[in-house]
Formats: sequence, structure tokens, C-alpha cells
Amino acid sequence: MARCWLLLLTCVVASVASSGHAAVVEHTFSVGNFSIRQLCKPPMVITAVNNQLPGPTIYVHEGDTVVVHVDNNSPYNVTVHWHGIFQRGTQWADGPEMVTQCPIRPGRRYTYRFSTAGQEGTLWWHAHSSLLRATVHGAVVIVPSSGDRPFPFPSPDKEEILLLGEWWNDDVVRLERDAFLTGVPVRPADAYTINGKPGDVFKCSGSNRESEMYKLKVQANSTYLLRIINAAVNTPFFFKVAAHTFTVVAADASYTTPYKTDVIVVSPGQTVDALMVAAATPSRRYYVTVSPYQTSFPPQPFRDTVATAVVEYADGGGSAGNTSPAPPRRRPVRAPTPKVHDVGTAHRFLSNLTALLRPGQPTVPLAVDTRMFVAFGLGLADCRPGQTKCRRSHAPALAGSMNNASFELPAAVPLLTAHSENISGVYTRDFPDAPPVPFDFARPPGRLAFTSKSTKVRTLRYNATVEVVLQNTALVARESHPIHLHGFNFFVLAQGFGNFEEGEGAKQYNLVNPQERNTVAVPAGGWAVIRFVANNPGMWIMHCHFDAHLPIGLAMGLRFRTDQLQIVPCHHHQGTCLTADSLIEIFSFF
Ligand code: C2O
Repeated sequence: MARCWLLLLTCVVASVASSGHAAVVEHTFSVGNFSIRQLCKPPMVITAVNNQLPGPTIYVHEGDTVVVHVDNNSPYNVTVHWHGIFQRGTQWADGPEMVTQCPIRPGRRYTYRFSTAGQEGTLWWHAHSSLLRATVHGAVVIVPSSGDRPFPFPSPDKEEILLLGEWWNDDVVRLERDAFLTGVPVRPADAYTINGKPGDVFKCSGSNRESEMYKLKVQANSTYLLRIINAAVNTPFFFKVAAHTFTVVAADASYTTPYKTDVIVVSPGQTVDALMVAAATPSRRYYVTVSPYQTSFPPQPFRDTVATAVVEYADGGGSAGNTSPAPPRRRPVRAPTPKVHDVGTAHRFLSNLTALLRPGQPTVPLAVDTRMFVAFGLGLADCRPGQTKCRRSHAPALAGSMNNASFELPAAVPLLTAHSENISGVYTRDFPDAPPVPFDFARPPGRLAFTSKSTKVRTLRYNATVEVVLQNTALVARESHPIHLHGFNFFVLAQGFGNFEEGEGAKQYNLVNPQERNTVAVPAGGWAVIRFVANNPGMWIMHCHFDAHLPIGLAMGLRFRTDQLQIVPCHHHQGTCLTADSLIEIFSFF
């Protein structure tokens, strides 16, 4: 371990600014206790970065190098993931616990260092250990590198980051521990939030409800670039602003053909950049609403409330020279929110986005080298020895699976360490390219509902073009899962409902300008086809971005042959993690 820290230090000290005028942007993140008041409750202690919710924004120019020193001053193990950053050659900085690194133990520091070359737009960072992501998250904004290459859309007058989240009046690490012990998922959140604030719709008295509401101050007729991030743990959202419309210009930090809409749909992990012109009557105020999009069937419990923020126009109270006292504040104008089960609205938005074609930018490769069919969803598994309450109830635990394998993080050696140091017994290389038997995936009851735990990875050839049919199942319930791939963007060729049919499905492929994303919300009881070039050596995971589903196994690993691993050897001598197993340690903390 000492060797590990020494090496780490050497790496940091030896770091130099990357080529040209690119800057090095350095931050220190202190993860620690933060006391906050929400929903008229007494102050509560949460885990957050630098006493902020959301945490600090990383704002850089394309090509800059980011260095973040994470000091873990919290009582929990933690890691930080830079969601959507490719981490070419810096995989040790990707962040998922037990995939690319050991957890950062309380009292310890880990330094992440990576480049933003070739990426522009809105991404984000979040804890990638336990449910800490609920409060340990923030924005990553990468703007074009210089004025001679501006945005590929009319320059906005101002930008506004809107992080959408979920809030529990509870210790989220304790909630996750209970979920593990019982084998039953974490209960729904107590509120949704916009930049950490729930808004004024909660019926709690005796407090200033306006202060619990985020304010977006605008100038009449100015154009705003809204950078919308779904940092929620388990809930896809509809986003609306009364009396205003949007032009979507990017999703997951990939530019899109300008798309006009009055509602934005964003699933956990995803981001949307949209232009909004402040063209409404300036004397009124307008609600921003964030409401849940719920797809599970049979219906699962969820929080049926709305988070609100408010758009206020400068000088909205009256024109200059008007000396009469300000009238009592009227309630903001509110637009109806889509119905919670409004699949039509969600599917229209999610499937209509296309990539903005730009000279010199790669587009979808036409020849495919490797095809996979991944049937995934929620099923059941035997309770494991540590799941004491689950064992007592004699009911099986809920388990996520891909091709009937329920992914378990290694207990002692991170996947990447095992991969680069040839340590055997940590994972197996037999992740199958298809489910063990075909069945009617889209309709319950599905076959293969029962699964078991394993750590299977699929080896990919460097530079292969990989096409994956992501087929959502309905084993015990069906639901739209946001599937996220680390280390890559992928093209979404098509998406649809029911079972994917080879011939019919392929007819729907967009091979001209398919949208590029890092997270796709696969329709409930449906499918999506993605394609990507496997040109980023390392060990990556693909998983459901509902935080409730990752620890129960809705994931798989992707690996490159060792001889093709060209990773800067910084940070990598971690060997066995000091805490034999991160999860167990968190769970036995209480
Ligand atoms: Cu944003 Cu592995 O996730």
C-alpha cells in the first residue's frame, strides 16, 4: 500500500501541462459532513463535497487537463466518477469502486487526473460507491477551446446549470445497507430537487417556502443555454418551463440537430443542453417543473411529486419611474406537467434526437465486427450470506442481470488491477453474447427470472466495431432502464417496443446521423441498438444508471486484451484493497 501512495505522489508531481495552450485546472474536493435544512425538517447531516449541494462545478475548455484531489473526510469509503469522460490512457481515474480502483478510505486522498481533449458539452461527476451519489455530485462543463471555434449554434447570452436530484430525509448509506440486508430496493425519495432545492410545492408550514426554491433570473429577450443534468438516483424526469420553449442542441455532451420542444426528457446519467429564449411577459414569474416519468409495470412505489424552481425577469416588477409600491407577489405561472406514465411524450423526445453532422467529426461506422444481444432487467437471486434479513424472510432477493448473469463487484482486487497485473480469480471472461435461451423478453412472466452472482466480462478486440442489441426484459417487472457505458460514447441506431426482430429492427437503423450518447434509456418492454468503436483500452463497465440496480447486479464488464492495454501506469499499483471488501465494510459500519 505504501508503494501505491508513493507512486501516486510521483505521478502527481511529475504531471505537466499537456500540449499547446491547454490549461491544467486543479480542484480539491473535500468529501465530508455537511449540515443542511430541507423540507422544513431540522438540519440534517449529509455527505457532500466542499459543503455544497450540488457540489462544485468543474468548468474547463476542451483540451484542458483536470486534476482533482479528493480528500475523504467522511466516515464512508468513497470514489468519484467523471461521468462521460473517455479517460483515454487514464483509466485509473475513471472512478467506479472496485472496477478501476480501491475505495478511498476515510482520511485518505486520491488524485484524479485526466484530459478533456475531444469532448465538449455538459457532463457531471458523482460518487461511485454506495448510494452516496445522491448527495455527492456536481457538473462538469467543457466549453469549446477558443473563440475561433465557438459553439455550433448561436452563442447564448448566458448559461445556467440545472442539476436535477432526489432527496431523502434519511442517511442514504443506511438506506442502502437496509436494501442489501433485506434484498428489497431502497424506498422512494422524499422529494425531487433542482440545484439541491425541492421548491415550494411541499406542504410544510412555518418556513419561507420561496427560500427552498431555485431562482433563474433572466433578462427579457436574452438566450440562455440550460445545461440540464439528471443526477437523480432512480428517477427519469420531465422538465418544463411554463410559457417557454426549448431548442435542444446537445445530449450527453454530443451536439444534436437543433430540436424544438416544450418538454425535455432526461433519465439518470443523461444530460441535455437546450437554448431557451426569455420571451414571455416580463411582469410575471414562471415555474420550472421537474416531474417523474414512471415506466415500471406492475407499478412500483415512487414519489409522485414535482420539484419547482422559478424564472424571474429582471425589472419584472414594473418599469423604471414607476414609484407605486410593489404589488403583492402573484404565484408563478404553471404549465401542466406530463402524466407520470406518458410514454408517448418520452419516446418522442428520446427517439427523435439526431446527431449534428459536422465536417471532420466521426460518424457511425457501417461495418460491424462484433455483435452482442444483451437481454437485461430485474429478476431474483438467492439471498447471500450477508443478507441476513433477506434470509430470514425466505424470499429471494431482487437481482439485476444481463444475459442471466448478475454482476458482482470483486471483493478484494479491482477489475483493472487484476487485468493489468494478471491476477486470476477476480473475474471470468465468459460473459455470453446472448441469453442462454431465447424467450418472449417483453412480456411477463419471463423465463430465466432466476439468476446467480458472478463477475463476468466480455473481451473485446482493440478497434472492433461493436453492435449491441439491448433488449429490456420483463422477468419480474418491466421498466425503462438507463444503460450507461463507461469510457465510450455510442451511437443509438434505433429503439422500439416489444422484442427486437433482426430484420425488422435493422430496417429502422439510422445510419446517417444517429444520436450519440453515453447513457440510453431503453424503452420499457422494448429495445435499443447501440454501436461503438472499441478504441479505448482498459476495463470498463456497462450498467443501469438507477443506483438501486447497480449494486444488485444490472451490469457487465468489458475488457481489452492485456497486450493492448496502453494505460499510463500512474495509480495502478493498488494490489489488494486494504478493506477486504468495500461493500461489506460500509454495511458493517453500523
Ligand atoms: Cu454515472 Cu458508472 O456511472
